[in-house]
This record gives sequence, C-alpha cells and structure tokens, in this order.
Amino acid sequence: MKKRYYITTPIYYVNDNPHIGHAYTTLACDVLARFKRLDDYEVMFLTGTDEHGQKVQIAANKAGVSPQEFTDKVSKNFLYLTEKMNFSNDYFIRTTEPRHYESCQKIWQKLMDNGHITLSAYSGWYSVRDEAFFAESELIDGKAPTGAPVEWVEEPSYFFDLSKWQQPLLDFYEKNPDFVAPASRFNEIKRFVEGGLKDLSISRTTFDWGVPVPGDPEHVMYVWLDALTNYITATNWTEPNSEDFKNWWPADLHMVGKDILRFHAVYWPAFLMAAELDLPSRIFAHGWWTNEGEKISKSLGNVIDPITLIDKYGLDQIRYFLMREVPFGRDGDFSQSALLHRINSDLANDLGNLSQRVLSQIFKNLDGKIPSLPINLLDDDASLLAMLKELPDKVRAQIDNQSFHDALRQIWNVIAEANRYVDKQAPWALKKTDTDRMADVLGVLVEVIRCVGLLTQPFMPDASAKILGQIKVNESERTFVHLSDVNLLSGRIIEKPEGVFPRHQIAEEG
Ligand code: MSP
Repeated sequence: MKKRYYITTPIYYVNDNPHIGHAYTTLACDVLARFKRLDDYEVMFLTGTDEHGQKVQIAANKAGVSPQEFTDKVSKNFLYLTEKMNFSNDYFIRTTEPRHYESCQKIWQKLMDNGHITLSAYSGWYSVRDEAFFAESELIDGKAPTGAPVEWVEEPSYFFDLSKWQQPLLDFYEKNPDFVAPASRFNEIKRFVEGGLKDLSISRTTFDWGVPVPGDPEHVMYVWLDALTNYITATNWTEPNSEDFKNWWPADLHMVGKDILRFHAVYWPAFLMAAELDLPSRIFAHGWWTNEGEKISKSLGNVIDPITLIDKYGLDQIRYFLMREVPFGRDGDFSQSALLHRINSDLANDLGNLSQRVLSQIFKNLDGKIPSLPINLLDDDASLLAMLKELPDKVRAQIDNQSFHDALRQIWNVIAEANRYVDKQAPWALKKTDTDRMADVLGVLVEVIRCVGLLTQPFMPDASAKILGQIKVNESERTFVHLSDVNLLSGRIIEKPEGVFPRHQIAEEG
C-alpha cells in the first residue's frame, strides 16, 4: 500500500482579490504535494475558499448582490489563481457546499453531545476584518492587535468550553514537539495557552450569512469553527464508514500564515479533542511578504498581483523566486531587483547556461548522442557524482522540514559545482585533444542535469519538463525512483537545444 500524505492550505476569504500572500501559501503546499507524489506517496492536496462570515456579508451588501451570488462570483478569482499558478490541488473546497453544512453541523452536534457547548450571552469586542473576538485588555489604542477596528457586540451566543482544554493542549504539545513549526512560533503558542484560555463564543445572531446552528437557526456558527471544519469536510466524514475519512484524516500538514496560527494550533486542536477526532500531525506557520520594505495593504495601494508578475516574468521564475528568496517561516521582502537577480543569476546563468552548454556540445560534437558515464572515473568526476548522489536525501530532509529555500540551495550547490567542473574540464578543448574524455565529461554533466531536472520539478514543473524533455527523459521516468537510474539516457539522441530561461534586461526596468 502506498504511503499517504494529506496537505491543506488555509481557505481564502473571498472578499479580497487574490494577491501574492495567497499565492505564496498555496505554492508552498503545491511544492510539497508534487514532491510527495514524485516520491511515491498518494497525495490529497486541498485548497479552497472561506465564504461565510460578517466580512463577506458586508462585501456582498456593498456590491448590491446576495452573499451567495457574491461568493459564486468571487470564489472564481481564487480558482483562476490556482490554474494560473499551475497548482496541483486535488480539490477546491467551498464552504457553501451542502456537504460542508452537514459537516459543520455534525461537529457542532458532537461538541454539544459531549457537553462542550452552552448557551449564554456575549458582550465584548469583535473585529470583522480578523473575524475574531478580543478582550478589553487585548486592545491596543482601541483597536485589535492587528490594527483592525473593533466593534462592541452584545448578543446571545453559544460558548465552547475552551478554558477546559488548557492542560490537554499543553500535554499534547509536550508529547508532540514537532506539532507546530517554526519552533519560535510554537513557543509563542505555548506561552499563549499557558497564560490561560477563555471560553470561546462560537455563534452569532446579528447577521445570518453562515451555517445555522443545529436546533437553533437564529444562530449561525462562528466563521472560524465553520472554516476550520473544511479540512475534515473534504474527507467526506459525514458519510457512514467513509473510506476517505479513514484514508486521509488526520491531515499530515496544515500550512498557514503566521497571522492565523492561533486558530489552527489552539482552537482547532481543542475542537477536535472535544469532538473525539484525531489531531493533524503538523502545522507550519510561514511569514509575511512586504513590498519593497512596506507592509502590503490595499490602502497603501501596493498589493502585488501574482498574475501580473507571471505575465511579465514567467510562471516558473516567480515560483522559484518565492520559494528561494526568503527562508521559509520568516518574513521577507519582495523587491524587483531581488527578483531580477534570481531570474538572471540562478536561472538563466547557473541552471540555464549549464544545460545549454552541455546539450549544445552533445548536439554538435557527438551527433546528439548522449554519452554514458565514464567507466573509469577521474577524481573530479567521482566527487561531483558523489555530491549528486547525496542530493536527493538532502533535499527530501529539507522538504520534510518545509525548508524550501534550503532544498533549492542544496540543488544549486550541485549546479555551481557542475559549472566549476565544466570550466575546469573544458570539454570544448578536449574536442581537439581527447574526444573520449570529452564524451566522459559530457556524460557526467548530463547525469547532473537529469537529476537536477527531476528534483526541480515540484518547484518549476514546466521548466523542468522542458529540460527533461530535451535530454529525452520519458514522462514515465520522471519520478524519484529513477534518480538512481544512472546511464538511463546513454545512446538517446537529442535535438538542437533551446534555452529554457531567458535573461531579463535590468536596465529596461529602470
Ligand atoms: N479565511 C481565513 C483562513 C481560514 S483557514 C481554516 C483567512 N483567509 S485570508 O484570505 O485572509 O488569508 C489566507 C492566507 O493568506 C493566510 O495564511 C495569510 O497568512 C496569507 N497572507 C495574506 N497576506 C499575506 C502576505 N502579505 N504575505 C504572506 N502571506 C499572507 O485568513
């Protein structure tokens, strides 16, 4: 039986236009999902849209349409982004799906039956932008800690007994030291829980765009209980004896931005424990992008549209940049010059030139016939090939840690070494003096290009496919078991190679 891997993105609020932050979270999941599939896992990769709540209802009112019409329309923007970014999600969930209503009502009923929900009244501060409740003591200058405005809310409300889950959560964290990453964020979560938890208001009556509370439809469920439940809705857990649920739950990884970690690492595990459901294995909180040093916001007018970037620079260039530039987990800055540098230096020069130089020489000097590896390795051949052999495990370890930048760094270390090797061996000179040695050198290099091309597939699916296609790696030979098939290509005939990564003129950008 194949190993399984279930990975989720947050579901996106539809009131916003998709921007670089949304693309970033899903891209990280896409890289992981693709990597795992190539590594022989059966994968379920889930993304989608969060369509309920006061924020969406307000946006629909402003647009003069019903919330359902509004969400039908705007959720398509996110669907479009997944296509444009070449995301390989297996399903796109919408919280307005009937099965999701059932799923939310089922979890509610479980919490109710297990005695964790009571009806009372809420009075306090609510931030619509964050869809979160705040205590007076948490406000900063009369605003939510995120800077969002808050409003005073007084209404009947059901409460979840979150306060009772402090110790079980701390015990769980203790037993599962990798539950939240990066470690610094996990510490913040522990400190927060150690500080004590208050019961959580989980229903609202002052608007109606949400899932009705079973048996009391005056109330709609708090949007975060509704939203988090999407992760199990997608496993069809409401179906009796659901195979999907057995196969996929608990999730292996919930990928989230740092702003929504508390909901995932505190509330969600507490809901799940209270409903007697298993907890996800890991939650990773990534950092936030700024734009040329400034916080990204609609009001500053500096929102980065991923679609514009893709059209200008190419999809795989953007995918590479986002995964390479900033250590995953930290905040990072988006700058035009950093992007151009990565495109020209890492892609066009390092990988693009390596591949172009080697393939042109095979094409011109060996009638396009791919040579095999040397029978007798010289020291330089052996050390480059040894480095190549170690690469897959190194990359795998980084991917399993969600250190995407380090995975790419490892790959580029090998590319740099291969470029030094070409310069030193100078196969163009060997053409005149020792054609056997020339073929040996090109044989070593084509093996580097093959393995690098296989390992870059999750990050740059199209560009990698082009490279692998040029060296005649069949589609059926592109999974990671083939990494160790040395000499797979020997004797295959290549065509005239074409550059895969165009350079961008820096001057033009001004
Ligand atoms: N609907 C909730 C999530 C519910 S999950 C059960 C939500 N949606 S969101 O659309 O506001 O945000 C989704 C994701 O986008 C978050 O992970 C957030 O961190 C990410 N980003 C939004 N802006 C960002 C940046 N500027 N940079 C990086 N990621 C950012 O929250």
